[in-house]
Amino acid sequence: MKSENLLVTGGCGFIGSNFIRCMLADAGFQGRIINLDSLTYAGNPENLQGLAEEYADRYVFEKADICDASAIQEIFSRYRVDSVCHFAAESHVDRSIKRPETFIQTNIAGTFNLLEAARGTASQGSTFHLFHHISTDEVYGSLGPEGCFTEETPYRPNSPYSASKASSDHLVRAYHETYGLPTTISNCSNNYGPYQFPEKLIPLVILNALEGKALPVYGDGKNVRDWLYVTDHCEAIVEIMRRGTRGETYNIGGHAEMENISIVGMICDLLDEIAPAKAPRRNLITFVKDRPGHDRRYAIDFTKLNRELGWTPKESFATGLRKTVLWYIENRGWSERIRSGAYQNWIQENYGKRS
Ligand code: NAD
Ligand code: TYD
Repeated sequence: MKSENLLVTGGCGFIGSNFIRCMLADAGFQGRIINLDSLTYAGNPENLQGLAEEYADRYVFEKADICDASAIQEIFSRYRVDSVCHFAAESHVDRSIKRPETFIQTNIAGTFNLLEAARGTASQGSTFHLFHHISTDEVYGSLGPEGCFTEETPYRPNSPYSASKASSDHLVRAYHETYGLPTTISNCSNNYGPYQFPEKLIPLVILNALEGKALPVYGDGKNVRDWLYVTDHCEAIVEIMRRGTRGETYNIGGHAEMENISIVGMICDLLDEIAPAKAPRRNLITFVKDRPGHDRRYAIDFTKLNRELGWTPKESFATGLRKTVLWYIENRGWSERIRSGAYQNWIQENYGKRS
């Protein structure tokens, strides 16, 4: 990576925090990371604890909202930002169904503000290497029992979340075609691993199972997702940023298609093995009302990424899930602070009002 000042948006979230750790430990990157995050409910500075001390001259945190265009412009010029890796988003489908407004603001208007700031930097003659946009396979809609999403699959988003992400992908593409902004986009399948906010399926089920609470499975539990361990995702992003063709899109996936009910069963069995309870955790499985517009199946064809950049995931679903379960057991304090609301107060005291 040529970048000297890489702006990472949403770096206090699940994937962004894993990515920052990955980049700072990467010998091929010697630049500085500016982590810009507005600390919504999903942003947790604890995910990056210790980095500001360990990498005193290479890591800095800026609390700012990507919807605030003038704050974004000011950060671009103050830090001489020359590359962007854009994770910041509202990311949970169920929340987008209940309250779509913030998804439109953050995911679409926020991305627009960042693109404008990058375009301004590039057009003023300053070096600007790359705007990498993190997106999702959900923009492609739902698959039947056969086939996979390729980069050529037409966009057919079904939730306000996926529609807002699709819109932001189109904006990024347009800024490359119209203004020649150096961009890349990656569309990734479902991630799992350390630091995932416990509203998403895998951490929710691990924590509920540990606490002996019901494990909610939507509909018939046979919806399929293609799961990728988060550090595999981060390594794919690094490869795309380093060597991906500007203006191109890359799909990232895990070759790990699983029905939700199988995952929930696997988590129960792992916990029964590692931390036995009085009764099998499978007894906690509870089928609940389905999510409206629930996509049936996602599966990613990542041939392009493999062929052009040689990337392939390192973790299998079985090894990645075991690591994840162990991480949540060993880091009960992290999730307890989130689930009890204690960390909300701590963030307010240390970082001011949350967004
Ligand atoms: P997350 O919800 O854990 O984190 C999002 C982060 O963005 C938080 O730190 C939050 O505070 C920050 N943020 C939100 N709105 C902001 C705003 N207006 N200004 C500044 N910061 C803001 O999300 P995640 O799971 O880490 O996902 C990161 C990115 O990856 C998203 O763009 C998402 O669409 C994409 N993605 C996620 C998955 C997945 O399985 N989690 C899969 C594919 C793609
Ligand atoms: P989720 O983790 O919310 O990711 P996404 O909706 O982006 O795929 O959900 C993964 C799958 O698990 C999805 O098919 C919905 C389902 N699900 C449940 O069955 N129960 C739950 O409590 C949650 C949060 C999700």
